Amino acid sequence: MTTSNSYTLENYIEDLRRITRETSDEDEIIRQVSPLAQRAAVGKSWLQPKHYQADPEQGFGVHLLHEEPDHSLAVFAISWLPGRGTEPHDHGTWAVVVGVDGIERNVRYQRCDDGGKENYAELEVKQDFNADKGDLVCMKSGGIHMVRNETDDVTISFHTYGKHINYTNRVQFNLETNEVTKVQLKID
Ligand SMILES: [Fe+2]
Repeated sequence: MTTSNSYTLENYIEDLRRITRETSDEDEIIRQVSPLAQRAAVGKSWLQPKHYQADPEQGFGVHLLHEEPDHSLAVFAISWLPGRGTEPHDHGTWAVVVGVDGIERNVRYQRCDDGGKENYAELEVKQDFNADKGDLVCMKSGGIHMVRNETDDVTISFHTYGKHINYTNRVQFNLETNEVTKVQLKID
């Protein structure tokens, strides 16, 4: 048993491997991964000053901390510039996100159309909340949310996905036009 401040990224990766070897049920994976992600995130053993750098064009910085050779079990530090964020999007896999430094606004959405029209979706807000240090934001495949940093400082959060999200079939949603488009992240 390791103490909380000695729970390293390597310990966390070992736990991710064990959990996903034992079950493929997303509810169960999220239930087991969540407290470990909080422990790894808040312990900050992985955090380096360079993780605060963000791409001014993208509005945020995506720093890969780990992925398996097949792109599964991807862990990122993501930094968010003040006033910037994402469009509503899904991930194409399960996601466990923990706040590390600063408050990030999260809006969760649900589809309210029947999915019958190609590249088209209508969304309605399900939940709108602020995630602070140590707070969890968990989504199963198909979960839709957007993130925005409404503070005056760069924020950081610790993200774990079942698969690297540039290797899943994932999309973003335009709230004005209802258009659904594919999306790729710029990775630092
Ligand atoms: Fe996301």
